[in-house]
Amino acid sequence: MKTTTQRAEKIFSRIDELAAITEVPGGITRVFGTTEFLEGAALVLKWMREAGLEARVDAIGNVRGILRCADAGARTFVIGSHIDTVKNAGRFDGPLGVLAGLDLLEELIGSGRPAPFHIELIAFSDEEGVRYQTTYLGSKVVAGHFEEALLERKDGAGITLREALEPIHAGMPELPAERAGATGAAQAGGAWTSDAIMGRLRQEALAPGSWLGYFELHIEQGPVLYERKIPVAIVTAIAGQLRAEIVFRGEAGHAGTVPMNMRRDALCAAAEFILELEKMALGSKGGIMATAGRLDIENSAGNVIPGEVICSLDLRSADQSVLDLSYKKIREVCQQIANRRNIALEWRLLQESRPVSCDPELNALLGKAVRAAGYEAVELVSGAGHDAVPLSLVSPVSMLFLRCFKGISHNPLENVELEDLAATIEVMDRFIHQLTELWKYQP
Ligand code: GLV
Ligand code: MN
Ligand code: MN
Repeated sequence: MKTTTQRAEKIFSRIDELAAITEVPGGITRVFGTTEFLEGAALVLKWMREAGLEARVDAIGNVRGILRCADAGARTFVIGSHIDTVKNAGRFDGPLGVLAGLDLLEELIGSGRPAPFHIELIAFSDEEGVRYQTTYLGSKVVAGHFEEALLERKDGAGITLREALEPIHAGMPELPAERAGATGAAQAGGAWTSDAIMGRLRQEALAPGSWLGYFELHIEQGPVLYERKIPVAIVTAIAGQLRAEIVFRGEAGHAGTVPMNMRRDALCAAAEFILELEKMALGSKGGIMATAGRLDIENSAGNVIPGEVICSLDLRSADQSVLDLSYKKIREVCQQIANRRNIALEWRLLQESRPVSCDPELNALLGKAVRAAGYEAVELVSGAGHDAVPLSLVSPVSMLFLRCFKGISHNPLENVELEDLAATIEVMDRFIHQLTELWKYQP
């Protein structure tokens, strides 16, 4: 039998192998649906099959491996995380949970003591939402809550999600850019309709009554565990999010001739808005996180007054009323800035998710497992979004956070200590063992 340290080493080496598949050499970028994303998915599929799971890629690009129990009518416990990344990402955000889950199943298979329920390991295809500016595409499908309108969303190159799904449906691995370009138009009036795709996506959902629960291991992505010198924590809730896009429309003009007091500079309006946003979040007693992470300046040039700017907005809070109130307030402030500067505004709400509570019973088992492994059972609220959010609509959900270096994430410096992962492997073993014992005696 392998030690937890040896198992952690194997997880690390798989994380490194997956991280080497990247759109941008020298960094890690694997955005949903790209060639590299499909290559990464194919590698995870191979590992799942080698482990003995009944594995496949589903219609939204999730890689799914099932370990079936003898009772065909038993419910399913899902373990997962995601394999898409932000641009210039770290190695651990997502792949850690998938590959630690795979290790857990390998151990379970090796032990010869099967669980009394099915276990499905899922590598979700889009948790980050980088390509279509909306998160959880993969887990929404598995939860049966995928909205048809998402299919017509366009990425930065004008490729709809409907088109981007084609290479996934056509088989693995394909070249998405070429195929989407060559066949998207030809199929507009053919079989490749939204109805046909929605039919396939609906079939991928796990029926609400068949869920036993969901568990995910993820790096904390914040500094609490690092500061407190604790390797692992139990997540009690996940903050709600509002994501929007704001278009500031002024008037482009010559940088050398239009007098300063006669300008309608869209970028100055956006800049003022961003600073007001920061001020509001800093002054909020209810705990709100506010970020403008993306600015697109139309036809930008050093000698042109910016005429149009698109600014992203990401608002988060564990308290829905704080979230709603802050959103309302920042919209008003933005409108005042626009009025004063004679700028036209367009607000587009892109995504909204409510705060989610993790399941108290699963968390009680996690707490026991953490204590039995010799650690304090620390509880944290997640400010980051996770696939557990859409899954919570159909299943009890639970998560463990693993300490990461200085809490750094969405950054190539993201790091995890081997000993911390080994400690967490022990916690996960104990957790699944308790779950198995509990369910042996359930009808
Ligand atoms: C996902 O990483 C998020 O933005 O919370
Ligand atoms: Mn993540
Ligand atoms: Mn992330």
